Amino acid sequence: RKKLILNCDPGTDDSVCIIMGLTHPGIDLLGITAESGNLPASKSCANALRILELMERPDIPVAKGMEHPLVREYPKDPYSHGKDGLGNHFFPEPELKPDPRYAAQMIIDLVEQFPGEVTILSTAPLTNIALAFMLKPDIIPMVKEVYHLGGAYGVTDYAFLNATGDNPMSEWNVYVDPEAAKAVYESGVKLTTIGLDVAFNPEWVNIREEALKKLEKLNTKASRYVLEIIDYVDKNNSLPDLFNNGPIDTVAMCAVIQPDIIETREIHVEVDTSDNQLTRGMTLWDRRNHFKWTHIPRIWTACAIDSERYQRTFVEAVGGKP
Ligand code: BDR
Ligand code: CA
Repeated sequence: RKKLILNCDPGTDDSVCIIMGLTHPGIDLLGITAESGNLPASKSCANALRILELMERPDIPVAKGMEHPLVREYPKDPYSHGKDGLGNHFFPEPELKPDPRYAAQMIIDLVEQFPGEVTILSTAPLTNIALAFMLKPDIIPMVKEVYHLGGAYGVTDYAFLNATGDNPMSEWNVYVDPEAAKAVYESGVKLTTIGLDVAFNPEWVNIREEALKKLEKLNTKASRYVLEIIDYVDKNNSLPDLFNNGPIDTVAMCAVIQPDIIETREIHVEVDTSDNQLTRGMTLWDRRNHFKWTHIPRIWTACAIDSERYQRTFVEAVGGKP
């Protein structure tokens, strides 16, 4: 089983990722770290605990992360995940308590406990992971791999459609904390990014009728919640004309579960950490091959996904037969 730390900001789609991490037999969810992204970390932490209560899994530790990005103000999320961040489910205050450690410390401890074995998936900004790498750089080569739902690479037409309000070029998770993204992207850790090119392409990631039927048939607590979130995302997504009902971050979770469902290309990526409001947080790569930016470590970025297998992995990760 793949040992996983999930760094997330639930958030509707992140809450589905938590369920998938708990339910899929191939994943051993070691811990959850709550990031400031769609909601500040104190709120995303409480929401992660609410999902563990829903799933009756008090055994999974949840550690709260930084309330703010590394060096910047925390920006206001232009799109809504509902008043409670969970598609207006309004679950009660959680009785479960967070782990007493800070998120970065829990990341360090778990990587040191299982050297070479831990996959970290961030479906949120990278503040907690950058901080862990800065506090203890020795853990970087001990991390098996990092996956990030983040960035927009322009390898498909959908790259910039979830860009953030007045900034047309940047994907939200990188935009929130570009310094943290830069630190992790340039850390030398084995990194796979799944950008909006793939995760926001409705032809690939919309959850189709067949998968919805399988989820309905399952009729478990998990599947009912996931269907409600799909319905919420469908009715409230920022670009209704695209009919995007896919919970974006689940694309990255499914890629962690089945890495060969995505096609990747190897590139050198710079993150724009300037104060230019138009491009801050943009993930740039040099397509002029003869000027390779070899001073920046390579990363693997998704350029396509096997849509059929994504649908099957999605259903399987919610507890169904693929
Ligand atoms: C990211 O933005 C958030 O709304 C989603 O949870 C996802 O992590 C995509 O840009
Ligand atoms: Ca997210």
